[in-house]
Amino acid sequence: MRPILISILSILLPIFIFAENGSELWLRYKALPDALSKQYSQQLQFITFETNSPTRKVADAELDKALKGMLGRVLSKSVKIQANTLVIGTLKDKSVRQFVSADTLRLCGEEGYLLKSVDFKGGKVLLLAANQDIGLLYGVFELIRQIQQGHQLSNLNLKEKPSYNRRILNHWDNLDGTVERGYAGHSIWKWEELPEKISPSYEIYARANASIGINGTVLNNVNASPKILSAEYLCKVKVLADNFRPYGIHVYLAVNFSSPAKLGGLPTSDPLDQNVQDWWKMKTDEIYSLIPDFGGFLVKANSEGLPGPQDYGRTHADGANMLADALSPHGGIVMWRAFVYQPDGDDRAKQAYKEFTPLDGKFRSNVIIQVKNGPVDFQPREPFSPLFGAMQNTNLMPEFQITKEYLGMNNHLAYLGPLFEECLDADTYVLGKNSTVGRVTDGSLFHNKVTAIAGVANIGEDVNWCGHQFNQANWYVFGRLAWNNNLSSGKIAAEWIEQTFSHEKQLVADVCGMMMQSREAVVNYMTPMGLHHLMGWDHHYGPEPWCAIPNARPDWMPSYYHKADSAGIGFDRTSTGSKAVLQYAEPLRSIYDNPATCPEIYLLWFHHLSWNYVLPNGNNLWDELCFKYSSGVSSVKTFQKTWDNQEGKIDQERFKEVQQKLAIQAKEAVWWRDACLLYFQTFSNKPIPEKLDRPIHQLEELKKQKFNLKNHN
Ligand code: GCU
Repeated sequence: MRPILISILSILLPIFIFAENGSELWLRYKALPDALSKQYSQQLQFITFETNSPTRKVADAELDKALKGMLGRVLSKSVKIQANTLVIGTLKDKSVRQFVSADTLRLCGEEGYLLKSVDFKGGKVLLLAANQDIGLLYGVFELIRQIQQGHQLSNLNLKEKPSYNRRILNHWDNLDGTVERGYAGHSIWKWEELPEKISPSYEIYARANASIGINGTVLNNVNASPKILSAEYLCKVKVLADNFRPYGIHVYLAVNFSSPAKLGGLPTSDPLDQNVQDWWKMKTDEIYSLIPDFGGFLVKANSEGLPGPQDYGRTHADGANMLADALSPHGGIVMWRAFVYQPDGDDRAKQAYKEFTPLDGKFRSNVIIQVKNGPVDFQPREPFSPLFGAMQNTNLMPEFQITKEYLGMNNHLAYLGPLFEECLDADTYVLGKNSTVGRVTDGSLFHNKVTAIAGVANIGEDVNWCGHQFNQANWYVFGRLAWNNNLSSGKIAAEWIEQTFSHEKQLVADVCGMMMQSREAVVNYMTPMGLHHLMGWDHHYGPEPWCAIPNARPDWMPSYYHKADSAGIGFDRTSTGSKAVLQYAEPLRSIYDNPATCPEIYLLWFHHLSWNYVLPNGNNLWDELCFKYSSGVSSVKTFQKTWDNQEGKIDQERFKEVQQKLAIQAKEAVWWRDACLLYFQTFSNKPIPEKLDRPIHQLEELKKQKFNLKNHN
């Protein structure tokens, strides 16, 4: 070979060899550095694991795959236990019984596990024990995670039990393959090919979910088509359920409340009508005959034009209980959404609370009310929904949006861990201090038997699954926090980076720092200081604080929320305004009610303040808004530099892709800043502070710009 060709190849080869596209998510299992690999190979030589169930089989296969990738070898199967053996099993396995008692394992519940290094005959064995096989699968994934991160095994002593019983993804996938608010391509469910053809994606999907402890999936959009309950579709659903079962994933369906009429041909869908009740019972029995471990129904009713019990003069409880009665003999649940608001009603932020709290205690025990994290709609920042803690005799579950409908979709880097954590850690004070949203919903405060948490999925057909390499981290962190709502989002970010990109210390620290600031950066360049809902009304992507569509619903227009005028800006939700503050328990109510004590991050959520209002740092409100918008832009510029420094430390393919997305984000952060500041300036009539960069756009030019989401995707 000619020397010049050799040198070209030597430059290109590493790029080809290491080219990656993100399709393997965090389950990459790349070879570990030699020293580490040697160390693990020595500590893990043998395995005793009876693979006598489908779940055990997939656990065993995963471990083999991971160890082969990371260490270049698999463990030798052995019946006899000796030093350096990995012992896996439940109390049914004799090998395990000698190391752990039923009492100890009881603390791990049905799905948890114990993973610990124990002394044995002068050496060590690694024990993975659980009450059920699914706990073993979760434990295997934990062990793999430990190895992927290069952690010491000899110190391991983990006793895990999930915070929530049901940890569920909500897919807003339509039966025609489109995904509502999906930014990663079409749906991964190939309805037209099912039940005959099984896409290989289903297994990767199941593995990825099991690796982070997700144990449920709602397959279809909450804006549900009645067709999902047809015999034709249920056969397709059954095949998905069969494929997910070994991974501990239960299938749920979103149902349309009018299904008895629309699908069943009944004259009504009134929940108090006997024929309607019988129809749901029959349908539910049919589902369970196909899918014995079916999870239950998710319902969006009397919300955004969807049918519901109120169409017949009935309540949410009447509707939910009817479905609950059909599901209860089979152990299924109803997740009934509290996302309700009327255009002519009171302050939108108050409506769910007003509609649901009078029904406290009226729901069956297998109903759980699914509440979005904030009172409006998945904005970059909202205070927690006041429903959390306000219905102490009803099961309640948080709903997060993993897909970033309002945080830059597939283009902006925004790690949502801090957003989820902020909500779960928020103190509702309903039973005094430390009544956090996490504790209100995970059963530790009100001892609910049914506990759950949902995340609206960001998954699609894109090769990297989520539309942006870093959007994978949002799927990951949702699962990890659903498993343990006390984990820190920073720690989760670091473990995701180590598995997804590299162990290199500086890289982990830098990228983690960037991720941890990224959501705040988005808040700052989009909706700082408690502003919200400033986006264009149809696409929800770019800024349109001026948006005013003739005859449109006022509560879909930004001016309903920012209320900017010559006097100031912000929504007065105080005790003398819309009174939304009164829905919070003391001392929060008083804290939020007073602009001097209201946290700055929620200031304009709760208060309409003068442009001259002076903040504790001495700035007036207008200047502070300008600083916040500018700091959002600066943060993104810093992210670009941080990322550029990673060149050569990770594969070129993902490096370039993220670099290009950051360039879009940097440009669009300026777009957001300019649009909002130039528009609000027409009310404040104040100059941009001297030290800050001037806008580079003209307001009129921005207003004319038409944003087309179809072209964008
Ligand atoms: C948002 C979103 C809708 C979705 C709705 C919901 O309003 O834009 O697409 O249907 O939330 O959560 O039901």
